[in-house]
Amino acid sequence: MFPLRRNRRLRTNEAIRALVRETIISPNDFLVPLFVVEGKGVKDEIPSMPNYYRYSLDLLEQEVKSLWNLGLKSVLLFVKVPDHLKDNEGKEALNPNGLMQRAIKTVKNACPEMLVMTDVALDPYSMYGHDGIIENGLVVNDATTDFLAEMSLSHAQAGANFVAPSDMMDGRILTIREALDDEGYINTGIMSYSAKYASAFYGPFRDALDSAPVDLVDIPKDKKTYQMDPANRFEAIRESEMDIDEGADIVMVKPGLCYLDIVREIKNEVDVPVAVYQVSGEYAMLKAAAEKGWLDHDAVMMEQIIAIKRAGADIIASYFAKDVVKLLNG
Ligand code: PBG
Repeated sequence: MFPLRRNRRLRTNEAIRALVRETIISPNDFLVPLFVVEGKGVKDEIPSMPNYYRYSLDLLEQEVKSLWNLGLKSVLLFVKVPDHLKDNEGKEALNPNGLMQRAIKTVKNACPEMLVMTDVALDPYSMYGHDGIIENGLVVNDATTDFLAEMSLSHAQAGANFVAPSDMMDGRILTIREALDDEGYINTGIMSYSAKYASAFYGPFRDALDSAPVDLVDIPKDKKTYQMDPANRFEAIRESEMDIDEGADIVMVKPGLCYLDIVREIKNEVDVPVAVYQVSGEYAMLKAAAEKGWLDHDAVMMEQIIAIKRAGADIIASYFAKDVVKLLNG
């Protein structure tokens, strides 16, 4: 009770603040998303994601080495697939010499110790921009999960350490786990996008990969029949628990900032690591505000990352990873 207790004593100077600080950010917290394109010498800035790039394989190699030198030891790969290779089933995703498969090998060659996680979903390969196969105007579940299992296997064969299914089909974790185990890939992990919301914050990412759902009659215009309703909370816990039962090693909440209540609840509920994806729209918002001089970029960035970790994130997938680590290194 005041005046016996004065909380400000523990805030008197930086030394005492550092001594009692509860949340510490380090390079080990981060998973770095990387966008890969065909070509040579390509380093394409994504218009809605300032200072974030799509790399061709030769430059990906350099980027991965520079991440490693900064202490960033895990990457999450996404590929931008040329239009002529897109179809309804995403067949190109199984090409053993496809862009993703070559990207995995490129990273492993450049940096054998780098942890490679791969995006598993149909949308970059889908002519409709959906995460599943379309039949009669619907995104069908079970045919899609069978396909995702083949896709995961193909990534494992190329050398991925973890597959990260981001599609939100029911039962895909079990199907993927069984497919990997059947082929002997018992040590290939699964990071499941378990509570992935149908969010408007994914816009810049869809620009980056040219993967937005198409506007066609008879094709769903959004992803609301598979991604979660932002209004729901209990469902997020159910999704996470089911994925863990099916074999997920890591569960994820996505997006980040608007969903930190969900992160905390899941963290309290489950006994596997919880990842949080601070998504493209979150990145774009801060970049835009900072460009206008309305927010202090670095200070707000750090505050957001701390908030995500404090909420319960064991792993943070973030486009800010490099900026944060450079700032930490002074
Ligand atoms: C699609 C996928 C999306 C993101 C990761 N995987 C977009 C979507 O669901 O439409 C979004 C990531 C971001 O916005 O940074 N499988």
